[in-house]
Amino acid sequence: MPASDLSALLLAWYDRNARVMPWRVPPEQKMAGVRPDPYRVWLSEVMLQQTTVAAVRAYFLRFTERWPTVADLAAAEDAEVMGEWAGLGYYARARNLLACARAVVRDHGGVFPATREGLLGLPGIGPYTAAAIAAIAHDEAAVVVDGNVERVMARLWRVEAPLPGAKAELTRLAGLLTPEDRPGDHAQAVMDLGATICTPRNPACGICPWRGACRAEAEGVQASLPRKAAK
Ligand code: ADE
Repeated sequence: MPASDLSALLLAWYDRNARVMPWRVPPEQKMAGVRPDPYRVWLSEVMLQQTTVAAVRAYFLRFTERWPTVADLAAAEDAEVMGEWAGLGYYARARNLLACARAVVRDHGGVFPATREGLLGLPGIGPYTAAAIAAIAHDEAAVVVDGNVERVMARLWRVEAPLPGAKAELTRLAGLLTPEDRPGDHAQAVMDLGATICTPRNPACGICPWRGACRAEAEGVQASLPRKAAK
């Protein structure tokens, strides 16, 4: 099946099944042309780096209630931010969060850079986060690859080579599928598919929008993918 058909099937599924998250634009606002706020996308992606969606939700709501804009966060005291972060762990993320907010205000007039390149120059923003913000907030056709995306690609294309060696190939495959139209929704759709259907154990292949196209499912080998190199 051509990549454009796969992407269209996935987006149609996402339009009906997207998980509701406080940093996403609700469907009715989306229909009215409302775009995601880069500040909220950035904050959510930093929080989600080593933490589950369920755990992040309440922290995200408290942060955005207390600091609704990047300028508000940049003006906060270090101790206030560290206090709100308490419990999320990986405290280097919180220090980078503040450094990044202050750099956006100091060097970019309080506006997040709109491209991956520009975002990569900010503290704490690596290739994954830059791609996620560029795609989700700015609809740049950036390739967003996290663990969910690796698993989904390994199964869809039946990649038997183990991680971490297979990373480059899985990223290439994710890139082939990334559409010019709605790349941000596409990226989040692959993540939602990985979190709700193409799960590590007992994937729900019977209700997958890619049923029929998935090579692992066709051969019944989905449970064994992705392989991991022996330590
Ligand atoms: N994990 C990291 N970022 C995410 C997002 N935007 N949607 C769903 N899961 C995610």
